[in-house]
Amino acid sequence: MPDSTLTNSRIVAAYREKTPGSGKFAERARSVFPSGLTHDSRQLDPYCLYVDRAQGSRKWDVDGNEYVDYFGGHGALMMGHNYPDIVEAVDKQVHSGTHYGSGHELEIRWGELVKKLIPSAEKVRFTGSGTESNLMAFRLARAFTGRNKIVRFLGHFHGWQDHVAFGVGNHFDGTPTPGVLSGIAENIILAPSDDIAETTRILESGDDIAAVILEPTGSGFGQVPVTAEFVTELRKVTEAQGILLIFDEVVAGFRASKGGAQQVFGLKPDLTSLAKILAGGLPGGAVCGRADILDLLDFEVTAAKGLEKIGHQGTFNANPMSAAAGVTMLNIVDTTDATAKAIATAQKLRKEINAVFKDEGVPWAAYGQFSEIHFFTNAVGMEIDPTTFDLFAMKHSDFKADKTVTTRFRLGLMINGMDLNGKLACKVSAVHTDQDVADSADSVRKSVHMLKAEGVL
Ligand SMILES: Cc1ncc(COP(=O)(O)O)c(C=O)c1O
Repeated sequence: MPDSTLTNSRIVAAYREKTPGSGKFAERARSVFPSGLTHDSRQLDPYCLYVDRAQGSRKWDVDGNEYVDYFGGHGALMMGHNYPDIVEAVDKQVHSGTHYGSGHELEIRWGELVKKLIPSAEKVRFTGSGTESNLMAFRLARAFTGRNKIVRFLGHFHGWQDHVAFGVGNHFDGTPTPGVLSGIAENIILAPSDDIAETTRILESGDDIAAVILEPTGSGFGQVPVTAEFVTELRKVTEAQGILLIFDEVVAGFRASKGGAQQVFGLKPDLTSLAKILAGGLPGGAVCGRADILDLLDFEVTAAKGLEKIGHQGTFNANPMSAAAGVTMLNIVDTTDATAKAIATAQKLRKEINAVFKDEGVPWAAYGQFSEIHFFTNAVGMEIDPTTFDLFAMKHSDFKADKTVTTRFRLGLMINGMDLNGKLACKVSAVHTDQDVADSADSVRKSVHMLKAEGVL
């Protein structure tokens, strides 16, 4: 929904002035794509950026403006853009064949690396995306338990397929969004991720729950965090009830730690969904976990047990191009400090930004865990000190945002050379530098000045 309060905004005028080429492409795109977009998350008033090229931690739009890039390929780019080893592996592969329609060694090496890095991965199945990984996890869970219902948490994002299309940004009452069968919605139960007592009550309330899925560090990779105690308790209750626990580590995998959030918590989910970093910046996903569950995809095991095998196809599953990038990426995760470096740089950036907020007298905070940064823009009007902000002291309802302010803040950051996603989330990579941190803190200061001049801060 376009924001009518932006019509006379000086920030919007400055954005238009700086990005006329993007404006022209956006006009052209509108006659081809709904809203001119190819992904809902790229929606931006007045229009999204059109990018010409990228390198390392930076990207350049079609007007030649340079940005420190924290969109990070929607979280897929742990090594930034065009990392030499990944470029070399993909280049070599494109000359050796992009699709054999056969098994190939790279897919085995890729799967072996997943098994090595992710603590609960006894068996692996590659898919085309994170959405597909979660879809397969649900199917496996239902087939394995013989039960129907899936419990999800309000606000947790798991892709765009029918089971997960509501209760994320709207339809918090569990009713289906247009196009989703009511029969699917009836088999999904939405639970509050800040209330373990209520969640336990739900899990103990019936005998038809196959699985619980969550983003283990909280919705939006911890934009609204969950506590380690919550996840630990969830593991205990699910185990007691014979309910499978699915960690959606599409973002957290290889980012929260080499072994994902499960390694941080010291917990083993039954199934884990992966994508993004997994495929080194190319398309790809995987579901991994307990062998006795993944074996429902196995021709011989199911035949021997007299079970009906689960079907699974997918033209681009483990395709050689994604496998080449993925193997290179996971080797980097395995043998270098890339994950830790991204986490350390994010910590520096949060500190620098909070120093700016404090200095400017702005009651906001940069927060987040691991290599992620979120902005607390204080729509609830609390008194806070940005430098001592404690995200775990907040109630979930405190994290709401006022879009008229956040859109302006984001545009201000973009005008001043910093790109991030529409939820004001920054993915920090292992190739972001101290210079990027300094430049980004400066972008935040200049954007704050623009908001003050516009009278919204
Ligand atoms: C936690 C989480 N799960 C699943 C998905 C869906 O992954 P994909 O976009 O690869 O389908 C995403 C994508 O952003 C995600 O953040």
